[in-house]
Amino acid sequence: MQNPEKSWFGEKNVTPEEKTRGVIGVFDSVANRYDLMNDFMSIGIHRLWKDRFIKMIRPRATIAGRPTNYIDVAGGTGDIAFKIRNKTGAGANITLCDLNYSMLSVGRDRAIDKGWINDFNWVTGNAESLPLPESSTDIYTIAFGLRNVTHIDNALKEAYRVLKPGGKFFCLEFSHVRPFILAKAYDLYSYNVIPKLGEKIVNDRESYQYLVESIRKFPKQKELVQRIENAGFKRAKYTNMSMGIVAIHQGIKI
Ligand SMILES: C[S@@+](CC[C@H](N)C(=O)[O-])C[C@H]1O[C@@H](n2cnc3c(N)ncnc32)[C@H](O)[C@@H]1O
Repeated sequence: MQNPEKSWFGEKNVTPEEKTRGVIGVFDSVANRYDLMNDFMSIGIHRLWKDRFIKMIRPRATIAGRPTNYIDVAGGTGDIAFKIRNKTGAGANITLCDLNYSMLSVGRDRAIDKGWINDFNWVTGNAESLPLPESSTDIYTIAFGLRNVTHIDNALKEAYRVLKPGGKFFCLEFSHVRPFILAKAYDLYSYNVIPKLGEKIVNDRESYQYLVESIRKFPKQKELVQRIENAGFKRAKYTNMSMGIVAIHQGIKI
């Protein structure tokens, strides 16, 4: 369990308030260039990870004749919500919730460009205290967001609270690479290349240093399964992609 009084920001120990402020600062600073940097750093592979994530979710416009309620937490500039919308058409209710107004603003501009401005609910809010009633959501998604949340266990409990019985939790996140030799190569790439790319392309080394360190601190695959179950979910499991560079975790509220 996390100690609620202690937190970390990159490699630094900070108070929970400092961590949340730090995360808001990072995403304020990268919002306008976030999509571009994602493509650079992952050589476009983040799109394939997100496509696989959506395949696992199998989005449907309706469940038992009524619109499916989706919440994409830490929805940022909208990639996951847009991919869900692509599959469901306009028939589902899709909410994006993010701590950071700047990220959502970029997402809204993208939605306008697609002619989809009225197809989403845009909410600023914290994954640890979602502005949604209990048992109101069919599908909860969080992509590359959970590692930024100050108290992961609080966010998992909130996911459980807002889901309806039968509702499903899906998390796509950077994870831990195996085998060892690949883990070392990946470490070298991430510690040496990613912050430099951040500096060269968007003149922001610090935010990308934070990214690398936040990945290192995130719980390993099996530990996260356990914590998802501790929050109340059943049938928690994970699927690695790209040898564990990222993993999809799932659970169901019964
Ligand atoms: C790496 S971006 C991911 C954005 C998007 N989901 C994607 O896959 O491209 C992480 C997002 O998490 C948001 N975030 C961080 N902590 C959060 C929290 N406690 N509650 C809600 N959103 C949070 C950030 O503002 C940022 O937009």
